[in-house]
Amino acid sequence: MTTAYNDWEAPVVAEGVYAPQEDSQLLIDMMDKTGLARRRRVADLCTGSGVVAIAAANQGATAVDAFDISPRAVHFARQQVSAACVDVSAHLGSWARAAEFGPYDLVVCNPPYIPHDPGIEELDLPSHVGPPRAWDAGCDGRLVLDPLCASVRDLLADGGTMLLVHSEFSNPRKTLAALAGSGLDAEILASQWIPFGPVLSARAQWLEDTGRLDSGRREEELVVIRADKAGGDHER
Ligand SMILES: C[S@@+](CC[C@H](N)C(=O)[O-])C[C@H]1O[C@@H](n2cnc3c(N)ncnc32)[C@H](O)[C@@H]1O
Repeated sequence: MTTAYNDWEAPVVAEGVYAPQEDSQLLIDMMDKTGLARRRRVADLCTGSGVVAIAAANQGATAVDAFDISPRAVHFARQQVSAACVDVSAHLGSWARAAEFGPYDLVVCNPPYIPHDPGIEELDLPSHVGPPRAWDAGCDGRLVLDPLCASVRDLLADGGTMLLVHSEFSNPRKTLAALAGSGLDAEILASQWIPFGPVLSARAQWLEDTGRLDSGRREEELVVIRADKAGGDHER
């Protein structure tokens, strides 16, 4: 399935908090289309502004736990939850804290996934793009993805599902293989081409130099990956 968005405008958030973007919206849309949040316990693992967690509550989740390592993000998410009058608990800490509160019927995650060369200092990024911790994910973009794929099965109830969004540049095939290796049934559920934002634009030359980007291309493919744990009575 391929989805296209036009004229996307990032909503305004507090300084230092990731403003919801096309990846956030694609994840929310897939959660809505699959109906997976309805009457289910949901965990949003890298919640940022809380936009995906709040969407899960609005789509009928019975309860939602949200996690983020950024105190600013959690503070902002709690304000948004309060304003939206929804049942979402925002917890400060790593996504791995979800093990304390799970298991969940649905885990959603828009993690940091952009490859980053720590040797290159980027001085040109506009301030509105948010904190690097929200997107930088090591040389291969898999700093969060690898441990998440290795342990998400334990966060899921029998019959539970994860919906995970990331970019072609952080190797979706590796995600699919890692999830399958953990005993989950994984597939690409949706994809969307979007133009490079300021961060990828700043890294385009490095991606070209390291053979990950064709010369001159300035758009990336986002994917939403669905991973199902056997058991339970959920419909696919
Ligand atoms: C790409 S943003 C996504 C925010 C939001 N879910 C959305 O879709 O708009 C990633 C978020 O993950 C958080 N984060 C980074 N590493 C984390 C970790 N190890 N555990 C939990 N949150 C983390 C960042 O602070 C940031 O808010």
